Amino acid sequence: MNTYTVGYFVGSLTRASINRKLARALTRLAPADLTMREIPIAELPLYSADYEADYPPPARALKDAIAAVDAVLFVTPEYNRSIPAALKNAIDWASRPKGQNSFARKPSATIGTSPGKIGTAVGQQHLKSILSYCNSPQMNAIEAYIQFTPGLITDDGDVTVPETAEFLRNYMDEFCNFITRVYMAIPRQRT
Ligand SMILES: Cc1cc2nc3c(=O)[nH]c(=O)nc-3n(C[C@H](O)[C@H](O)[C@H](O)COP(=O)(O)O)c2cc1C
Repeated sequence: MNTYTVGYFVGSLTRASINRKLARALTRLAPADLTMREIPIAELPLYSADYEADYPPPARALKDAIAAVDAVLFVTPEYNRSIPAALKNAIDWASRPKGQNSFARKPSATIGTSPGKIGTAVGQQHLKSILSYCNSPQMNAIEAYIQFTPGLITDDGDVTVPETAEFLRNYMDEFCNFITRVYMAIPRQRT
């Protein structure tokens, strides 16, 4: 049996983030073959090319954390029909220094929640475009745009609507299948 480690990013820096609740729910609903761990982004300074020769410790930690996982999952709000600056900043750091893009050939998936009816769909389209440029093989389906209604997910990540819980469980199963397919085509390189 193949087992994989998934590093997840929460695109929100907000303490009571609904996307963090969603990330907790996904961690609880993930199949046993996936080990989930957060890759933190809050401590990163704003990226500048002046750092390229000497990455600061939080940025080195970010790149090490991505290198240590088999796949990445983005759980993010939509900000002004795009992704939050904090998340874009993290992606910019990880994609550099030039020629050392951490996302290259790393399988990924995107998901997000918002109180609005389109549930981060537009922001995720931006994110998918960024990840394409970063050469990350992406799960195209299932798409997951989750409208957050009050109480949908508890602080502990318990999903209170059974249909939504089933959808999210299926999403994580499909992500596991997708990761397996990617590594069947391009085997993992263990150092
Ligand atoms: C700067 C900003 C921009 C926002 N833009 C959008 C948007 O484009 N679409 C949307 O559905 N919600 C938007 N919202 C509302 C967020 O969906 C809502 O604040 C949500 O709780 C953010 O997720 P979080 O709780 O995980 O931080 C925006 C919120 C902020 C603070």
